[in-house]
Amino acid sequence: MIVSGSTSQALAAALARELEEPLAAVEYDRFPDGELLAAAPGVADAEPDRAVIVASTVSSDAHLEVLQLQDAVREAGVEEVVTVLPYMGYGRQDKAFEPGHPISARAMARAISTGADRVLTVDPHEEAVCEFFEPTATAVDAAGRLAEPLPDDLADPVFLSPDAGAIDLAETVQGAYGTGETDYFEKVRHSGTEVEITPSDVDVADRDVVVVDDIIATGSTMSEAVGVLRERSVGRVYITCVHPLLARNAVTKLSRAGVEAIYGTDTIERGVSTVSVAPALASYL
Ligand code: R5P
Repeated sequence: MIVSGSTSQALAAALARELEEPLAAVEYDRFPDGELLAAAPGVADAEPDRAVIVASTVSSDAHLEVLQLQDAVREAGVEEVVTVLPYMGYGRQDKAFEPGHPISARAMARAISTGADRVLTVDPHEEAVCEFFEPTATAVDAAGRLAEPLPDDLADPVFLSPDAGAIDLAETVQGAYGTGETDYFEKVRHSGTEVEITPSDVDVADRDVVVVDDIIATGSTMSEAVGVLRERSVGRVYITCVHPLLARNAVTKLSRAGVEAIYGTDTIERGVSTVSVAPALASYL
């Protein structure tokens, strides 16, 4: 039985269809003192052997919901609890950045592990975060599907990552598209919203470019990359990512930078989530 966290309701429904498993009735509420209550009465009614909780931990509340839903389905007598984190929040805090800082990804993983027999997550920022879970989480690769919404007529395309860390994703999307060159820029981050992009030598004049990254958060990385491309007489620019977090004014920032379209998956449910990771997840369930 599929159990949806409030942040992943459409994806959970898509996964239920894909697996032909029932979608549990759930409730999300808040007590007068502000405390959350996420419940799964549908699981208590149906008494399935397995519950698959699907919830992107995009906020601290969403983390709590996962813990509550895990507890609720155990309480209902479920034998196997699979927890699917389509987007793992705090995943980018995978080290102690300064003395006295926590390794937040590890802290979150430990808490979630206590209620899960198995954890799946989609394209984590660093695959090493999977080892913070006990047992180790499975990283599901959904990047290949990002080629699906791209137009068929890209002109001599370049699949570009805005930093070296995302070149594998750019190569995966290029491979799925079937033609084109891959390259990457260099990025230096000065603050949470300020990045500096140094372009490579790739000739982008009059060529269509697809910029690929794992996450678009504030949109600073992508908008800087698009700005650099625009200075080089690029053709059309498409941007695509696995996790369209799109915090604050990211969509406006990117639209003003002059992108043709923004594409993302439904690991985070946004207006640009045109690609579903449900089939990729289903193959592990
Ligand atoms: C970091 O290395 C990630 O791959 C992304 O580039 C980053 O999270 C994007 O963040 P923002 O949109 O805030 O620049």
